[in-house]
Amino acid sequence: MLIMIKRLFPLLLAIVTVACKSPQLRPPAIGLIADSAMVVSAHPLASEVGARILKQGGNAVDAAVATQLVLAVVYPSAGNLGGGGFMVLRKHDGTLHSLDYREKAPELSYTDMYLDETGKVKRGLSEKGHLSSGVPGSVAGMFESHARHGFLSWKELVQPAVDLALAGFPVTPRQAHSLNDLQDTLRRYNTITPEFLLKEWHEGDTIVWEDLGHTLERIRDEGAAGFYRGKTADDIVAEMRRGNGLITHADLQAYQPVWRSPVTGTYKDFKVISMGPPSSGGIALLQLLSSVEKYPIQEWGHNAPKTVHLMTEAQRRVYADRAAWLGDPDFFKVPVSQMISKSYNESRMRSFDPRKATPSKVIREGDALKESHETTHLSVVDQYGNAVAVTTTLNDSYGSAVVVAGSGFFLNDEMDDFSIKPGEPNMYGVTGGEANKIEPNKRMLSSMTPTILERNGKLFMVLGTPGGSTIITSVFQTIVNVIEFEMHMQQAVNAKRIHSQWLPEVVFPESGALSNQDSLTLVSMGHRFDAEYWDGIGRVDAIRVLPDGRLEGGADPRGDDASAGW
Ligand code: GLY
Repeated sequence: MLIMIKRLFPLLLAIVTVACKSPQLRPPAIGLIADSAMVVSAHPLASEVGARILKQGGNAVDAAVATQLVLAVVYPSAGNLGGGGFMVLRKHDGTLHSLDYREKAPELSYTDMYLDETGKVKRGLSEKGHLSSGVPGSVAGMFESHARHGFLSWKELVQPAVDLALAGFPVTPRQAHSLNDLQDTLRRYNTITPEFLLKEWHEGDTIVWEDLGHTLERIRDEGAAGFYRGKTADDIVAEMRRGNGLITHADLQAYQPVWRSPVTGTYKDFKVISMGPPSSGGIALLQLLSSVEKYPIQEWGHNAPKTVHLMTEAQRRVYADRAAWLGDPDFFKVPVSQMISKSYNESRMRSFDPRKATPSKVIREGDALKESHETTHLSVVDQYGNAVAVTTTLNDSYGSAVVVAGSGFFLNDEMDDFSIKPGEPNMYGVTGGEANKIEPNKRMLSSMTPTILERNGKLFMVLGTPGGSTIITSVFQTIVNVIEFEMHMQQAVNAKRIHSQWLPEVVFPESGALSNQDSLTLVSMGHRFDAEYWDGIGRVDAIRVLPDGRLEGGADPRGDDASAGW
C-alpha cells in the first residue's frame, strides 16, 4: 500500500529528530500532496492509522474516529477518552452536520463551587485534580458519529488504538520533555499514583498503556457502554470518591452527544462552515471574517502594520461579544443570527480608526474568557469527497492530571472553561460572565473551531487548531493566508501568527512575526505588546483541495504533526 507520510515513526524518526533539534531547519513551504485521501493530525502514528482506514474503504468519519482513538494513546496530553470535542462534517452530497460532544458539568456541581465562604475564588480547584473534571463526552461522540455516518465496523476502528496501547510506541523528544515536566503534578493529584508514567523520559523510550489498552478493548467490544457503564464507569466513580470529585454513575449514564446545526457564513466567494455554541469558535470566526472583508489586506500585506492593526481591532470587538453573549445554547439564548450577520459586524467596525487603536474599555465593558493551549485538531478528506474537522480536548495539558486508576486514561479539567465567578480571572488571568456560569448538566464555553470551507459549492479547505482563545485567531489567519495572500496550505500553516483578544489589551506576536520597525509603528498607533514573544501560537492541521482535485496537507511544524495520504 502506498501510504505517503511525512515524518513517520519509526522510519523517519531520524529526520524528526533533526527537524526538532535544528531551529535553522525551515519547514517545507508545500505540504504533502495526495491524489485521493488525507489525514492531518498531531501525531504521525495517528495520521498513518487514519490514512490506512481510508485505504481499507473507510470514510472520513471512520478515519476521524480511528485517528482520535489513536491520539488518546500516542498523544495523551490532549488526545483523549476522558475529555470532549466537536466534529464538523461535510458529506460528499454537500449536506452539513456537526456533533457536540463537549463535557458537561456534573449534576452535583453548582455556580459557586470554586468559591470559599467569603466569595473568594479557591485557586487551583477548577484547574487540576478531581473537582476540575466535567463528565467526559469523547467516547459517546465518537460512537455516535460512527453509528450515524461510519462505514467500516466499529471494531476495526478501535483495534489500532488497542494494539498501540498494549504493544507500546516510542515517545518523541517533545513528549519526553512534556512527560518529564509532568512528574510532580502526577504525584500531587493522583490518589493512586500511575507508576508507569513516573520516570525520567528520553526520546525513543516506549510507553505501554496496559490499563488503557484494556479500556479500549471494552470500548471495542461494548461500544460507548464500555466507557459509560461497567468497569470503566466503576473506575471513574471510584476515582471521584477517593479524590472528592463529583462525577457519578448517573452522570455517566445520562451523557448524550448532540447533533447541532453548524454555523455558516461567507467570506467573499467562499462559504465557511464551523461549530456553533457551546463553542464560540464558529461565530467568532465568521464575525472576524466579516469584519475585515471589505479592507484591501492583500494590498497591505501579510503581518504588515495596517493588516495587524485591522485584525487586532476586529478581534477586540469580537472577543468582547464572545464574553457577553456566548454560552451553552441549552441554557442561554445565544443571538447567533445577529452575531454572524454582515450588517451587525459592519456596524461593530464603524468605530474602527485606521490610524489608532481603540482602547478596549471604550469598546464595551465585560469579560473575555481564555482557555488552555492543550487541545488537538485533525482534518480528514476521503476518497468519496467527504470532509471532517474534529477538535478535541482535555483542556489543560494532560487535563486534570488525574489518571483513572484501573482504566488508565487522563480526565479533563474542563470545568475551568466555565466562568467560575463573574468578573474574576480564571487560570489564564481573564474573566467570564453570566452566560457561562456553572450550572448542573451545562456545557462549558469553548473556543474550538473545527472548520470547513467551500468555493462554488465544492470542498475547498478543512482546518482547525488547539490553542484556547488563540484557536479562533489562528484559524482566521490561516484562512486569510490562503485566500488573500495566496499561500500554499503548508505555507499558510507555517506562517507566523499574532494573537489579541480584547482583554487583556495586549498584542501577542510569535517570535519573528513582526520586524522591530513594524512593532514600533503599531506601538505608535496605540497598541501594546506582551513583554515576551510567544513560542508558538496554535498548531493548525489543515487540508486544501487544489484546483486539479488533489489534496495538499498543512501539518503544523510547531508540533510533531503529520500529514498522511494516498
Ligand atoms: N478547552 C479549550 C476549549 O474548549 O476551547
